[in-house]
Amino acid sequence: MKVDVLLGLQWGDEGKGKVVDVLTPKYDVIARFQGGPNAGHTLIFEDQKYVLRSIPSGIFQGDKVNIIGNGVVLDPARFMEEAKSLEAAGHELKDRLYISKKTHLILPTHRLLDAAYEQQKGDDKVGTTGRGIGPAYTDKVSRNGLRVGDILCNFEEKYAKLKAHHEVLLQNLDYSYDLDKEEKEWLAGIAYLKEFNLIDSEHTINQYLDNGKSVLCEGAQGTLLDVDFGSYPYVTSSNTVCAGACTGLGIAPKRIGDVFGIFKAYCTRVGEGPFPTELFDNTGDLICELGGEFGSVTGRKRRCGWIDLVALRYSIMINGVTKLIMMKSDVLDTFETIKACVAYKIDGEEVDYFPYDIEGNVEPIYTEITGWQTDMTKVKSEDEFPEEFNAYLSFLEEELGVDIAIVSVGPDREQTIVR
Ligand code: GDP
Ligand code: IMO
Ligand code: MG
Repeated sequence: MKVDVLLGLQWGDEGKGKVVDVLTPKYDVIARFQGGPNAGHTLIFEDQKYVLRSIPSGIFQGDKVNIIGNGVVLDPARFMEEAKSLEAAGHELKDRLYISKKTHLILPTHRLLDAAYEQQKGDDKVGTTGRGIGPAYTDKVSRNGLRVGDILCNFEEKYAKLKAHHEVLLQNLDYSYDLDKEEKEWLAGIAYLKEFNLIDSEHTINQYLDNGKSVLCEGAQGTLLDVDFGSYPYVTSSNTVCAGACTGLGIAPKRIGDVFGIFKAYCTRVGEGPFPTELFDNTGDLICELGGEFGSVTGRKRRCGWIDLVALRYSIMINGVTKLIMMKSDVLDTFETIKACVAYKIDGEEVDYFPYDIEGNVEPIYTEITGWQTDMTKVKSEDEFPEEFNAYLSFLEEELGVDIAIVSVGPDREQTIVR
């Protein structure tokens, strides 16, 4: 059986959580392969809203297995908070959520280091979510990290050693802190984690596949935040691209089936870093207001702009996208005209590929498209699409070279049209 991957093609918050939930009935297993509590995946159904950070978005559909893979970084305190709030809302987790023993732990001192490094960078800060993501992945790669499996044996000793190492770094960074309350919560989170099935998830997933079960991998962040291919250094610290599903779960590349690339009908970014199509005018403010573009993790206002087809073509190439998913179409319902960036002008030259450096002198070249000026939120099927909306879809499919298989017309699970 093949593994399908769903991932963001922009700078995150494309609506991954919503669509993973919509697609879950077609799969047996839903797995997260990278990122951590920097993610905020929103699901709305039956008048309830949930924001998931580390738990896969397949968790609400009873008979599905959900896996937190080895490529994820997990903060036990934040995980306990998230899991307990779901349990309090009547959702059973322990029989359906498995966690890889190879998943790396985010320590309270990782969060402090995240803040200290940002402070040290000053005006050059990344604008991280402050969840300790960068420092936790740094320790993983530098072979100092602690993994979920470590909590099962001599944990106190290992924790004390890494904490002492971090305290020296914090002292060198001249960062003052008080750890007591956070550490208490975190240790309670470690105890809570032991109540879950801690597994060798690479074996489990491959066995599922060998037995004909289907797997959907849920990406976090987006391709333009990938540590290798994103707008470095304004990126996250993991591989958000399709290849990350292989390393983050132990799946062979030949097992990958469909790659669902998800994008908004416009574009947003939260945090610092270049964004060629960013709008600094009333139109940008209007998109922000109509799209409710405020971060689901930090509450920060998301920067808004027009869709960037140069960047999308790049993301499609890197990921081998086989099907596109367009989100938040309804946000553009009232616009007379919509713009799409089809190329960049750099130093007077027209460029149609995503270059090494998109900072500074990159000027978007736009095509204008007639808006559909129709309330799309009530549309139930493709036959009801206005002519201008169909024209926008055809334009995008031609520019991007991949079919748009799903269109989302509102935040609710029901407001989804599969073509
Ligand atoms: P994710 O991180 O990719 O899962 O996306 P987020 O949940 O951070 O952000 C997407 C936001 O858009 C959430 O508030 C969703 O409820 C909302 N949303 C998703 N799809 C649609 C849509 O088609 N239309 C509108 N108006 N909102 C949507
Ligand atoms: P989801 O999964 C949008 C951004 C941060 C910052 C940069 C690095 O909900 O799409 P980090 O804390 O990861 O070190 O921050 O990445 N960022 C996100 N932006 N959506 C996310 O996740 C993000 N996760 C991280 O704002 O610019
Ligand atoms: Mg999000």
